[in-house]
Amino acid sequence: MQIVPLGPGFAVELLGVTLADVAANDAAYKEVRAAFEEHSVLVFRGQDVTDETQLAFSRRFGPLEVTKVGSEGFGTNLVILKTLDDNGNVVPEDHRLALRNKANQLWHTDSPFKRVPALASVLSSRIIPGRGGETEFISTRLAFERLEPSLQQRLRQAFAWHDYAYSRGKIAPGLATPEERAALPPQCWRLIWRNPTNGREALYLASHTYAIEGMAPKQAQKLLAELMAAATASGRSYQHGWNKGDVVMWDNRATMHRGRPWPADEPRYMVRTTISATAVDGLESMRAPPRQAAE
Ligand code: OGA
Ligand code: MN
Repeated sequence: MQIVPLGPGFAVELLGVTLADVAANDAAYKEVRAAFEEHSVLVFRGQDVTDETQLAFSRRFGPLEVTKVGSEGFGTNLVILKTLDDNGNVVPEDHRLALRNKANQLWHTDSPFKRVPALASVLSSRIIPGRGGETEFISTRLAFERLEPSLQQRLRQAFAWHDYAYSRGKIAPGLATPEERAALPPQCWRLIWRNPTNGREALYLASHTYAIEGMAPKQAQKLLAELMAAATASGRSYQHGWNKGDVVMWDNRATMHRGRPWPADEPRYMVRTTISATAVDGLESMRAPPRQAAE
């Protein structure tokens, strides 16, 4: 396996390894896992991607998130991001499927609003628009390392609140359905995620982050906006322009990402698998201590 740097201080392409190799072979998994811990974003090109190979690859890294789909609400490990309706027509811009992509165009990390947040996401392109539709990444690890030591020290003690309905509300009021709101109550996590394999710390924040525990709302919003602006300052991102056969994997503990727009009349079809964080990924240290009982 060969590692080729792509981004400013993070993000690499892996050569000489396939998703199927990782699925089938412990040594290949270990090498790719080490690259994931170190570089945060991994790009594989020229892959022969099927749902099955993507699932088998992803399962190596930990338990997969289950997403409910359809009126029967059956579970699947695949998230389909598409702008095509059941008849294969591109949906209008105000359609739920299109709005969902629009929400993904806000800087975020996947699943901080879930009871178990995500370690990693694996995204493959199936239909690519003629232009636009890139996915852009920044390193929240490098963003944390650029902060003043006194601010870093303050943030190490801080916990922040994440809410799916909050980020969806920025796109369209009521985009999160009452069922989704009930299923996804706000979650509180430490603002810094320390990687247990290398000790490196990263800001853990996203468009879903709306409050800091114990801080006045205005002050917290201001600090969150400043951290977001510093993390996403221009010139620090890796933007992935998709080609057929590309698969990109990212560390949700140490990056943020956003989708980029594309012409609304062109289809785009992406498939994501999402790996839940576990104790070995540092999840336990992210939990807020139980609240003190009120006097
Ligand atoms: C995602 C996501 C952005 C894109 O799959 O989690 O945010 O470019 N995707 O589709
Ligand atoms: Mn995402």
